[in-house]
Amino acid sequence: MNFYTRTLPIGVFDSGIGGLTVVKKIDDLLPAENVIYFGDTARVPYGTKSNETVIEYALQDAELLFEKNVKMIVVACNTASSVAIPALKEKYSIPIIGMIEPGTKHALNSTKNGKIGVIGTNATINNKAYSIELLKHDSKIEVFEKACPLFVPLAEEGWVDHKATELIAEEYLLELKEKMIDTLILGCTHYPILANVIQKVMGENVTLIDSGTAAARQIEELLIARGNRNTSVQKGASEFFVSDISTKFKEVAERFLGRPVQRFEKAEADKLRTRS
Ligand code: DGL
Repeated sequence: MNFYTRTLPIGVFDSGIGGLTVVKKIDDLLPAENVIYFGDTARVPYGTKSNETVIEYALQDAELLFEKNVKMIVVACNTASSVAIPALKEKYSIPIIGMIEPGTKHALNSTKNGKIGVIGTNATINNKAYSIELLKHDSKIEVFEKACPLFVPLAEEGWVDHKATELIAEEYLLELKEKMIDTLILGCTHYPILANVIQKVMGENVTLIDSGTAAARQIEELLIARGNRNTSVQKGASEFFVSDISTKFKEVAERFLGRPVQRFEKAEADKLRTRS
């Protein structure tokens, strides 16, 4: 690999701004990498949509990044990762990294009692993406899944330390606690924001798996294996594109990313057709 491919950006997309939690993990582990992010804020949420629609949107989102000459595409959205990876891999020859495989591997390394919980959007849980992948690697693993749709608006509202969030978490997570899981996969971009309250409700003995952290490690491994890790000593540049810019959005986005963002650009809308 030559210098040119090493300095190409990593493309990351999500249904909205939740994927910035994944960009944060990439920033932390691979600070020299240039990143181009696309958040489909006009069509979020994906977690309540049909698989057919999510696949169509994911292909359009990926195309936007591909046209910007990225060296790999990271599907930060767990919902899109749960259903669109085969279609994306078929279409593109550059590496496609989803959240399910890295999150699964990390969880399998962590569990001692073989009981793993998974939380995510309705679509991710209905698709059973995590349990299929977990059982593929170890058929003796017991997997317990639970959709926690209200966690997304709570994270966006910034209610990270709020009584209401704790009550809702207790309600959602009770059945997983009763199953005595020792590992819980946070299978949604937004859930790492609520990690403290989830940990409090689950108890200290349960290990939380952040799929974004696991994905950042897989990205690093892949870049090293392909010889196109950016070895610059300078901090990489980031560009942020979205399909809609609403009023409150910058504040939430910066909270998810953990740093200020100079500019969000609106992506060309003609690439993002809506289903008729
Ligand atoms: N980004 C989505 C995910 O990780 C959560 C928000 C949505 O439903 O689009 O599943």
